[in-house]
Amino acid sequence: MKLHQLTNCTKTILLCLNLSKAGQHRQISIAKCLGRSLDPVLEQNKSAPVADATAHFEFHGDWPVAEKQSFLKDMRLHTNFVSHEEENKLIEEIEPYMKRLHYEDAHWDDAIHGFRETERKQWYPHNRAVLERVRQIAFDGEIMPYVHILDLAAAGVIKPHVDSTRYCGNTIAGISLLSDSVMRLVRVDERKYQQGQPVEAPAGASENNTAASVAQNAAEPNDAYRNQPVTTLENNFYVDVLLRRRSMYIMSHTSRYNFSHEILANDVSTFRGQHIKKDRRISIICRNEP
Ligand code: OGA
Ligand code: MN
Repeated sequence: MKLHQLTNCTKTILLCLNLSKAGQHRQISIAKCLGRSLDPVLEQNKSAPVADATAHFEFHGDWPVAEKQSFLKDMRLHTNFVSHEEENKLIEEIEPYMKRLHYEDAHWDDAIHGFRETERKQWYPHNRAVLERVRQIAFDGEIMPYVHILDLAAAGVIKPHVDSTRYCGNTIAGISLLSDSVMRLVRVDERKYQQGQPVEAPAGASENNTAASVAQNAAEPNDAYRNQPVTTLENNFYVDVLLRRRSMYIMSHTSRYNFSHEILANDVSTFRGQHIKKDRRISIICRNEP
């Protein structure tokens, strides 16, 4: 039996076994935070302008016109979303905890390499104000109380994946700190990652399937925190997004479900033919409930 088949059969047990401490913590906190909301904050909404898409998006391949239009509506970028001072204050709060963790080589779901991560619920008021701005600009309602913080080493990489539709809702907003980077989004099969929909059995898992296991696969959603579709750039149109330091991206709906996302490794990190040096990068990622 292949690993992905095994994972599919015993997903809950395997999920728990596979989880790193941070992963376990996330599962626990996700379970715990259901239904809770953020405390209201009095800070005014300081909206930053949306970046000129043509300047920060590099489209590759044959994009159908309508597809490009809905993508641009659903993938938004705010450059200079946080000021230098706000960046410093956020790092000041994150760093004392983060520096006690070791960079890990491979994530339990294999999507991220060279990283350390945590989740944070309580923030100093000045940093909570920044998150409240994210909530107001990027989300219709509440965000999950535990905010995900990902510290990617200079040599780290986030491989192409689609965030779980089981654990995350329709919007993912990320602030990039300390380094520029390039996020690539590649079109995937739109039937695969729909909120609340059962996910198809992984490709290749079907040859020897009995009717029972096919039924099970069809009835159960995929438990992977990050799904990793196989895509080829030759067959899928894609876009590279220049994520400047201190910018915020908002990935929702089409861009969140119908495209994989990844952060390019430094040696292939280019935008419009220019190398974009990816140094140590910390991202603060807010998500909403499914
Ligand atoms: C993730 C992810 C993107 C980022 O953690 O699933 O895609 O901006 N992170 O770090
Ligand atoms: Mn992701």
